[in-house]
Amino acid sequence: MQRIPEEKIDEIRSQVDIVDVVGNYVQLKKQGRNYTGLCPFHGEKTPSFSVSPEKQIFHCFGCGKGGNVFSFLMQIDGLSFVESVKKVADLAHIPLDVAISQGDSSPGNKPDSQESKMIEIHQLASKLYHYLLMETEEGQEALQYLLDRGMSEQELDHFEIGFAPAHASTVTTFLKKREVDLALAVESGLLTERDDGEVVDRFRNRIMFPIKNDRGQLVGFSGRLFNQEDGPKYLNSPETPIFNKRNILYHFSDARQEIRKKEEILLLEGYMDVISSVSATFSNGVASMGTSLTEEHVQMIRRVTNRAIICYDGDRAGIEASFKAGTMLAEQHRLEVFVLQLPNGKDPDDFIRSEGAEKFAEIYTHQRLTWTAFKLQFFKRNRNLQNETDKIAYLGEALAEIGKLDQAVERELYLKQLGSEFDLSMEALKQQLQQTVVVKPKPHDYGGPPPESYGEYPSYEGDGGPVYEQFSFAQPSGVPSAGLTSEKRLLKYMLEDRDAFIQIRNLLEEHQTDFYHDNYKALYTHLIGFYASGNDANPLALMDQLKDDMARNLVSELEMMTVNTDVSIEEYQDYVQSLTKSSIERDIKEKEQALLTATQQGDIPAALELARTITTMRATMKNTPN
Ligand code: GTP
Ligand code: MN
Repeated sequence: MQRIPEEKIDEIRSQVDIVDVVGNYVQLKKQGRNYTGLCPFHGEKTPSFSVSPEKQIFHCFGCGKGGNVFSFLMQIDGLSFVESVKKVADLAHIPLDVAISQGDSSPGNKPDSQESKMIEIHQLASKLYHYLLMETEEGQEALQYLLDRGMSEQELDHFEIGFAPAHASTVTTFLKKREVDLALAVESGLLTERDDGEVVDRFRNRIMFPIKNDRGQLVGFSGRLFNQEDGPKYLNSPETPIFNKRNILYHFSDARQEIRKKEEILLLEGYMDVISSVSATFSNGVASMGTSLTEEHVQMIRRVTNRAIICYDGDRAGIEASFKAGTMLAEQHRLEVFVLQLPNGKDPDDFIRSEGAEKFAEIYTHQRLTWTAFKLQFFKRNRNLQNETDKIAYLGEALAEIGKLDQAVERELYLKQLGSEFDLSMEALKQQLQQTVVVKPKPHDYGGPPPESYGEYPSYEGDGGPVYEQFSFAQPSGVPSAGLTSEKRLLKYMLEDRDAFIQIRNLLEEHQTDFYHDNYKALYTHLIGFYASGNDANPLALMDQLKDDMARNLVSELEMMTVNTDVSIEEYQDYVQSLTKSSIERDIKEKEQALLTATQQGDIPAALELARTITTMRATMKNTPN
């Protein structure tokens, strides 16, 4: 592994704000001194993920994961340590001359795993497809087709669009020459095995769209027919260990930054729509792969934004799909939803290419329909509003919808609209609205403060220091929490101050006591090594050195604690004594258990001996202050 000097690492780390980096992946809200959001590492409905701008760390009180900006990128993007440093250096525009070697075996990077090999195979194939499209005679017809559709070479380069020739073994031969494991290429979905056992290209005579996952890794392809009609219009990679349509949104990883900046995501139907909208400066566009929106997609979206702009095809199917997606987003998941309706049944790609980017921007910005407004239109479908019965049924449905709105102003607005549309008085409508049985949406499932009993929230101690004991990993049950709190405090002080470390270490040795919990013990050992190498207190640098996730998670957890910083040695002494006390308590419990067994077995001498020991231990306990 390549070594980057520690000072350089410190410099790079100090040049970015972890809030900005994490904010690209998680929608963060300021809450007191920290930012909170939904944890990207485990599924949750109420936020227990915190980022501290002050400490430059993140920590999830739900799953326990934590660390600094490097650990975050390592875990979310599957990078090695060196790669994560490089990425942050790039973000901070700090030149860093390290080659990312394939053999880097630091945690988070598994260059040898089957999955990363499959991704590499896809990258190789994608380069080949793109080259064949742009530079060869074979790709000429496909290229011409794309150019005729109005795509620029820039767009083709940017999206790495390619061409898979009709020949059965273009990629197969190419991979063979590079000594790629063909069985793995078959498993990755790129090649397929014929009945006779011969391995051939899956994609033939198609325009190739590379598909990346949410970390920007190339995990599949979608190939479009262009000069014949034999077969499905789009052929996707099959489900593989790296590719699952349910959690893929085309262009998501590249759109993330813009989604965050615009604070909204643009949901489109097709790849071509995404490509056109990017050229129309809407880089926040994504598309699912021909499937309707899944629960997984919604979770991905919710992590980065609360607002979705649906712009599906203007045809009937597109409108139905908008209704379905909008219902899921707005009503089940409480996102703010708007719908764009393009005239004459056009899809965004057609529209942008024929009417221009400005017209699209105009609709996007000024003609977006609120979710309610969209539904009021949607309910008109299949109805003939000239017909009295249809009209009454429609009004009933519309009023029920309006009745769901929380805000009186909003209700008023839509009632006015209905009034003028159907020539009805406001009074009549309001009266009708009161009679309409309104099914209020369920109380907030998401957002909002969780109920008191909700297990994901920290409880607070009287002295201002939050304790998160119920979430500490590896916490044996039945352990008195005073001991645990003391362990946490001591480690916290030692983490943040070299002198405190020396004082506490002396006390621990003097009282011949030690941390009880394994992780705490491990962290203490790391600290001894860290300070022994001449370091000053530096929790962020320590995190870089901790290869053990549990120990690093513990550091971030401790860093999130607020404690009184003005502490005396007496206080340390109290905590150390509390460790001793907990340790004696545990011993007593053990002895009591042994006493019970001895009594049951009729071993009177042993029982008497144990009873005596217990009495002595109890006396020692009493004499131990605290
Ligand atoms: P163009 O027709 O070239 O403009 O592409 P498009 O992306 O606009 O296609 P369309 O509107 O027909 O379809 C929208 C999306 O549905 C596509 O981008 C694909 O993801 C998906 N899709 C369309 N046809 C097929 C198909 O035959 N098979 C599969 N698996 N997906 C399809
Ligand atoms: Mn299209």
